[in-house]
Amino acid sequence: MATDTGTTPTAGILSDDMRDDREQLVELLTRAYWMEIETVMSYISNSINPDGVRAQEIIEALEQDIQEELGHARQFGQRIKELYGVVPGSLDFQAAQSYLQPPNHQTDIVHVIKGVIEAESGAIEHYNRIIEFCEGRDPVTQDMVIGILRDEEGHRRLFEGYLREYEAEGLA
Ligand SMILES: [Fe+2]
Ligand SMILES: [Fe+2]
Repeated sequence: MATDTGTTPTAGILSDDMRDDREQLVELLTRAYWMEIETVMSYISNSINPDGVRAQEIIEALEQDIQEELGHARQFGQRIKELYGVVPGSLDFQAAQSYLQPPNHQTDIVHVIKGVIEAESGAIEHYNRIIEFCEGRDPVTQDMVIGILRDEEGHRRLFEGYLREYEAEGLA
């Protein structure tokens, strides 16, 4: 290992040389953090509002996802800090999930299923972008986001299965 009298690492994403990349990455991670927070909000409401026998499966799946999305938000926040960023406060929050607002009728489960698929697809798209950005720059963040991406792909696949069932019955 090279001798260094400074206090900052000389190689990798934490080095001075990579300051610009690091700041760009913190921005990407901050967006991811907010996406997770908004997903938690949306999944809480959509796990409480739905009515009807068929809603129960969706409610239980969302209740489990809430815990996972909350875990993702924590991981993104932790990594922002490790990269010398600051986890933002609530006043910086801007909502974007128009498609996960409560439906007009609380028995409209298809609306919820489609909204979840859209939220998961958005996360999958953004996290793929982060993984690409990390290539050759930050293997640690890349590794973390690959794990999170797998969770989101699992969430989307589960809800695609629900949608298929409704489509098969001509209800979606
Ligand atoms: Fe997530
Ligand atoms: Fe998810």
